[in-house]
Amino acid sequence: MGKPTTILVLLLVVLLVSDTTQQVQATPPTVRVLLARLNEDATYESQILDTLFIPWMAQSGIRVEYHYYATLSSSNNFGAVQAYLDAHDPYYDLYMLDVVWPGALGDHLADLTPFLDPVAVAQHDPNIVAAGVVGGRLIAMPTFVDFGVMYYRTDLLQRTGFASPPETWNEMQAMLTRILPAERSANPALVGYIGQMQAYEGLTCNVIEWLAGASTGSIFEPNRTLSGYLPVPTSSRAIAVRRRMRSWLTSDLIGPLSVNADEAASRAQWVQGNAVFVRHWPSLGVATHTANVSFAWNMTRIPGDKREDAGAAALGGWFLAVSKYSTNIEAAARVLQFMTSREFQRVRAVRHGVMPSVPALFDDAGVCATIGQCSLFKTLSASTLIYTAWSSILLGQAAPATALADMNRNLASTLDIDILGSPTNVEWTDAVAQAVVAVAAAGGSWSRLRQSESYGSSRTRK
Ligand SMILES: *[C@@H]1O[C@H](CO)[C@@H](O)[C@H](O)[C@H]1NC(C)=O
Ligand SMILES: *[C@@H]1O[C@H](CO)[C@@H](O)[C@H](O)[C@H]1NC(C)=O
Ligand SMILES: *[C@@H]1O[C@H](CO)[C@@H](O)[C@H](O)[C@H]1NC(C)=O
Repeated sequence: MGKPTTILVLLLVVLLVSDTTQQVQATPPTVRVLLARLNEDATYESQILDTLFIPWMAQSGIRVEYHYYATLSSSNNFGAVQAYLDAHDPYYDLYMLDVVWPGALGDHLADLTPFLDPVAVAQHDPNIVAAGVVGGRLIAMPTFVDFGVMYYRTDLLQRTGFASPPETWNEMQAMLTRILPAERSANPALVGYIGQMQAYEGLTCNVIEWLAGASTGSIFEPNRTLSGYLPVPTSSRAIAVRRRMRSWLTSDLIGPLSVNADEAASRAQWVQGNAVFVRHWPSLGVATHTANVSFAWNMTRIPGDKREDAGAAALGGWFLAVSKYSTNIEAAARVLQFMTSREFQRVRAVRHGVMPSVPALFDDAGVCATIGQCSLFKTLSASTLIYTAWSSILLGQAAPATALADMNRNLASTLDIDILGSPTNVEWTDAVAQAVVAVAAAGGSWSRLRQSESYGSSRTRK
């Protein structure tokens, strides 16, 4: 009598176990993703994400649930991710990270190497992927990127006899010196050059590009030395950059309006036809098309001091990373692989005009129809990164207080500005002075440095 009971119990156990297993298999794992929105209103974006995710979920058996950061502010978003990760909160499996955050968050993020298909990883620009490698671990992969470019008014250049855009700042100066007097009678609001020169993170990108375009290094070198400590002639070239920007301000090639411009203000001036040149991100091209502007325009590389130094561009963008505290790391990594894939990036590039990190997409007619100038972006994408480890240096490894104190003192002496003294020592109309002030202000607290560097500024390439 004992034996049948035992068999029955065993049978029941077997049935129960297999039943439980089936139930577990039947419940698809859910991967929660926290995303940065592309626009204030995410309706359009959500429609596109849904058209991408719905078939993928059916095919992969993984349920994706995405949420957006509460704000569009990069610094607020950083605080949100940091709070979840510091608390080891498993709620979100996957986070979208600004290109400069991985270094700061690396300890909380899973190493992706065991989970990703090496063929998929190899499709990306390795210089961009390098931004997701911290301490030898691949902890984040790019989903879209951004780099600084120069837009120009083809019509105004041609009217004044210039057939092609400037490759050096001196050429731009020569053009503006002729264009502005000729055109201002028709449009008194016309400014020569506008970038993002308000004292905020956008200015950091602009200044880094000026410095890199003069071969002065880029504030921090990959080997963690400060560029300003580099000997003459490098440090004297940095002084020349400052002198040029100052003279452009005093001679009105850069108008007072430009000095207070951020991305939105510079975009508005450009779209209204009030700027000959504007330094901006690739998204401005899409915005200019959408606005049906009445003038002829084009985009090109950011000039350099010499022709061979043209094309220095701050690299921004967004990466995806898997939380170490996720209970579903493997499934999360599969979602990450999909969201960084060529297919996913293609749709986002065509529908939103954001830049892919997969260079082959610059050969895709649909992508190029949206973003325009694929050959320009391809050149930028294929070029060498000056900053190979900027985010890690800034956010992860260097002793922050020391590095910042050194950097500020050094920048101050290089640029001949007494930032440590009274603020009245800083001439507020000097764009480079503002950059130093922005960096110095950020030095007041470590988290604010992250904030000031996080607007897509992190790397300079040329
Ligand atoms: C660090 O890099 C800079 C720029 O590449 C170079 O000039 C300098 O000699 C390097 N310093 C050291 C200690 O390797
Ligand atoms: C631009 O032109 C297109 C086609 O003519 C039109 O549908 C669209 O509304 C215009 N956009 C603006 C902002 O004027
Ligand atoms: C913009 O410049 C590129 C490179 O010189 C050129 O191939 C392209 O035709 C120009 N586009 C327009 C609309 O002028």
